[in-house]
Amino acid sequence: MIRQLDRLFILETEATSYLFEISETGHLVHLYYGSYLRIEEPSDADLLRERRAFPPGNAISYDGDHPALSLEDTCLELSGYGKGDIREPFVEVVFADGSRTTDFVFESACVTDALPPAMTLPTAYDAGSEASHLVVTLKEKVKDLTLELHYSVFPECDVITRRSVLINTGGEMVRIDRLMSMQLDMARPLRKVTAFTGAWAREMEKKELALSAGKLVLSSLTGTSSNRTNPFFMVSSDKADEKAGEVLGFNLIYSGNHYESLECSAFDKLRIVSGINPASMEWRLFPGESFEAPEAVLSYSAEGFGRLSRSLADFTRDHVTRGKWQKAERPILLNSWEAMYFDMNERKLLSLAKAAKEVGVELFVMDDGWFGKRNDDTSSLGDWTVNEKKLPGGLKGLSDKLHDMGLLFGIWVEPEMVNADSDLYRAHPDWTMDIPGRDHAEGRTQRVLDLANSEVVTYMTEEMKRVFSSARIDYVKWDMNRIFSDVYSKVLPPDGQGETAHRYVLGLYRMMKDLTEAFPDILFEGCASGGNRFDLGILSYFPQIWASDNTDALCRLEIEGGLSYGYPMSACAAHVSACPNHQTLRVTPLTSRFAAASFGVLGYECNLLDLSKEDLDEIREEIALYKKYRKVLQYGDLYRGREGNITEWTCVSKDKKTAVGLVFQKLVRANTQAETYTPSGLDPEARYRLTNRPLKHNIMDFGDLINTQTPVHIKQNSALHRVISRYVKMPGETEDVRAYGSAFMKAGFKLSQGFSGTGYSDEVRHFPDFASRLYFLKKEEDQS
Ligand code: DGJ
Repeated sequence: MIRQLDRLFILETEATSYLFEISETGHLVHLYYGSYLRIEEPSDADLLRERRAFPPGNAISYDGDHPALSLEDTCLELSGYGKGDIREPFVEVVFADGSRTTDFVFESACVTDALPPAMTLPTAYDAGSEASHLVVTLKEKVKDLTLELHYSVFPECDVITRRSVLINTGGEMVRIDRLMSMQLDMARPLRKVTAFTGAWAREMEKKELALSAGKLVLSSLTGTSSNRTNPFFMVSSDKADEKAGEVLGFNLIYSGNHYESLECSAFDKLRIVSGINPASMEWRLFPGESFEAPEAVLSYSAEGFGRLSRSLADFTRDHVTRGKWQKAERPILLNSWEAMYFDMNERKLLSLAKAAKEVGVELFVMDDGWFGKRNDDTSSLGDWTVNEKKLPGGLKGLSDKLHDMGLLFGIWVEPEMVNADSDLYRAHPDWTMDIPGRDHAEGRTQRVLDLANSEVVTYMTEEMKRVFSSARIDYVKWDMNRIFSDVYSKVLPPDGQGETAHRYVLGLYRMMKDLTEAFPDILFEGCASGGNRFDLGILSYFPQIWASDNTDALCRLEIEGGLSYGYPMSACAAHVSACPNHQTLRVTPLTSRFAAASFGVLGYECNLLDLSKEDLDEIREEIALYKKYRKVLQYGDLYRGREGNITEWTCVSKDKKTAVGLVFQKLVRANTQAETYTPSGLDPEARYRLTNRPLKHNIMDFGDLINTQTPVHIKQNSALHRVISRYVKMPGETEDVRAYGSAFMKAGFKLSQGFSGTGYSDEVRHFPDFASRLYFLKKEEDQS
């Protein structure tokens, strides 16, 4: 709900309040963002107002009439340079006279129930819940420039969004050097910053940083939201943990270069701004034109990181993702990439698909390599015609055969790129981003198409429409494998080049919008060299994103863990792949690869034709299990437990009738027989039954300990050892216990004794390096 009480604005969600007011000077002064406060009259907010009789020394007074007002020490909803506030600004412009000082003051405000969408960018939407919207219009005191601050409130998920629009109401061009999406000034002592940084194959590494002075900048200049620094970050009290403490979460609905600055002022106030990276943007705002900054997402939790993550997951599912697949159970796919890379043809694809169908896969995805002369990554991007040597019947021939087998069919595309060795590049060398007269830096031997050029956007959209309608295509993986360099658009004038990177993103969104509207049934999956563009902008069009090329179970769990802080697991595509793993060469058990992938949208990416019958049987069983719990795993609430050598997660259905738990171990510690699984999120008053999936362990895992049981000596790894291992399995432990939800959550469940070198039976938990277990909890009245 949004209320205006005289000069005071009150934005309320179910558990939070956000307050600001118009000062005597017309500035928007931020008062509070945190747990819900009851405010009935403007005077109820008196305790939040800073009172001053004199300005701080060596600071600027706003004007002669307000000597005690120093903007440098005032919490503001927005700020510019030039009137005494020397902190990181929200807005920076250059007027035609060369001056840069701005001073925006209140003009009007309007509250509505409907959320007006942005014109050029994706924004969060409301599907008939209780969201409301406030727009505050401010006027530059001297120049003809208007600034709109938009606030949307999503009560049930404790989210407030902010965005801004700058409008040139004058007769001369204004250059925008920055327009941030949000600014939050806080006097409260929240100083721990949690950022998610990384690189290819190690996306979303959680980093905790203490901020006590100066400025911390998180940003991306890759052209994408990037694996280097995700736009999602958190600010919390030092003591906050999963279940308690104050935490603020921030994100952007944007897929390009972003910027987040957290600055401790000279007066111990924290200023947070976020938006498009100003280092890559300069925008000419002509008379009558407006410029929109992307929407920023803010959420507050007084109950630690866990509650914040669940609010943000709900917000993304309910107000960001759209269309047929928004809440639909996602099919289990098999992707051809790691099974055959570029070396594909219809015969090989069909044999792999047949094996996939036999284990229960629902969707077969043909990855890179099916078009042009694409036998490696040096050619053919841009030429979206089927390679008929590989697929004699074209996409339609393959699609028909797969559908006849009872499988859905998906393809890979990379529409934003072109290889120099392609017919498209030869015909239109001017369509790529590069600087005339300068050698182009290389990235995967491909160039970025200039999506700032609307002709290119229209051409490639039509090309994709042609491809997507040439056969029955149920799924599209949209890849993007090169970061930006030599940023330059040949359709923009020299003084417009600072617009290229943002115009690229606008062109991309136009393409994504057009194609998702034209093909509403297709399940689109975003991808950019794995998770180089995992953000809310992409999720506004595509409901899921390939989180990383790294499918090593241990790494994957960390990547998914990082993502889980700010994104729903229904957005995170996760595959089981071969071992040794192609990215790390690590060998992890199939059960653990499955366990890690099953907490996202499960898929497979390995050559099933080369797997043993034993592995295929296990995969078949695991797929059946995932189907049974898919809804909970994709759309339930995720509760993170222990983190470290043991990772403990529980995913609970919204009705709390079903939960799936995970215990995953990094490295075994000798003689640790005791282990506990402590679920969270259960109904404390209900009785649950906990079971596990009893496993059968390979005798080879026990090495030459086999000789402690056999009458004759068996040489480890010998042919005899392997033959025995085919017929003799070591039974795993069975767990079956009933207790109240409160008991499970308070005391934890004591697992069967872990193997510790003193004996083995079906009452012992075989739990070596990288081992894991899944546990299933069902409310007693619902044991179906
Ligand atoms: C990068 C992606 O992340 C991979 O999954 C795969 O699709 C390759 N591109 C194909 O070139």
